[in-house]
Amino acid sequence: MKIYIKSPGRVNLIGEHTDYNGGFVLPCALDLSIELYFEKKLNESHVNTDLGYSMNFNVSTPYQKSNNHWENYILGVINELKQFKTELINFSCIIKSSLPSGAGISSSSALVCGLIKGLAELNAINLNNSKIINLSRNVEHKYIGLLGGIMDQFTILNARKNMAIFLDCKNLKSKFIKINFKEFKLLLLDTNVKHNLANTEYNKRVSECKKSLKVINDFCNKNYSNLSEVKDIDLRLSKNELGETLYRRVSYILKENQRVVKSVNFLENNKLKEFGQLMYQSHLGLKNDYEVSCDELDYLVEYTMKFDGIYGSRMMGGGFGGCTINLIEESLVEKFVEEAEKEYFSKFKRKLNPIVANLDQGIQMSLI
Ligand code: GLA
Repeated sequence: MKIYIKSPGRVNLIGEHTDYNGGFVLPCALDLSIELYFEKKLNESHVNTDLGYSMNFNVSTPYQKSNNHWENYILGVINELKQFKTELINFSCIIKSSLPSGAGISSSSALVCGLIKGLAELNAINLNNSKIINLSRNVEHKYIGLLGGIMDQFTILNARKNMAIFLDCKNLKSKFIKINFKEFKLLLLDTNVKHNLANTEYNKRVSECKKSLKVINDFCNKNYSNLSEVKDIDLRLSKNELGETLYRRVSYILKENQRVVKSVNFLENNKLKEFGQLMYQSHLGLKNDYEVSCDELDYLVEYTMKFDGIYGSRMMGGGFGGCTINLIEESLVEKFVEEAEKEYFSKFKRKLNPIVANLDQGIQMSLI
């Protein structure tokens, strides 16, 4: 008997870099996924992927972090699970993926959540979704080196087909929003600029936000627990103390939170054009104030502006590469993609990877 897990990627409609600041996000699960097949083994464990990575080990051997980045996903999950059961069972795991990695659609969290879910089942460890979310975040913080929030893991575990999750990352309260774009589609354009978030400025943004929070609390004599709680007046009062860069970072977070709330309202009332405008505004904030975009992403977002049938476009995910998310009339997709691919290649000498995103349910498990 095998345990089969299908762990999806995530798309985020709006609300970027707000999750680790206790803010709002609006993500969904993608119909592209990582599939994992687990089976018990007696003496040794094997992991094989269709990307050519493989690994042989024994679960009872204590492992430190590996120099091989990829192996840390596996070792991290095993080490974290040992706090629930010291003697884990050896296993084989075959991993197949239709999720491009480094594209900002969270292949990393899909892999970690899938490994935790499958190995917990195999070892009869009872973990609810919120435990899996926390464990997955610990693995990414400690073993992968990315100090991310919980948007991706929460979505992968809880998403529903054709729904977005309006999630308050401060208390994990959520509401499902039905998504019906009618004659419009979500189109992802993967720049093929591979971000390795852990090695980029992502963690620096996390610490800039922590620092900003301290400056505002100290200066205004407040006790805010995250940046999303900060009142405009306190941000303005602290402007000089923060300095120009940190002021822009905090302004972006406060505005992006407002955009998420407005987006929910627009989407619930089928105001797609208005939602699209917020996507463009979000991109400008990410580019100019939060500074997590790159030339390729900016070029693609700007390029969409000459098409009437595209309502909105912005970079998606952590940034520094990865993909844009576009709200585009279905009848325009083919022609637009063809032109964009040509223009993008002639400008950057890189292939553009288009993905029409359909919204699927969260992680699935079955016995086969
Ligand atoms: C990455 C992180 C998420 C989130 C996004 C940006 O995907 O894993 O937690 O911070 O970037 O919104």
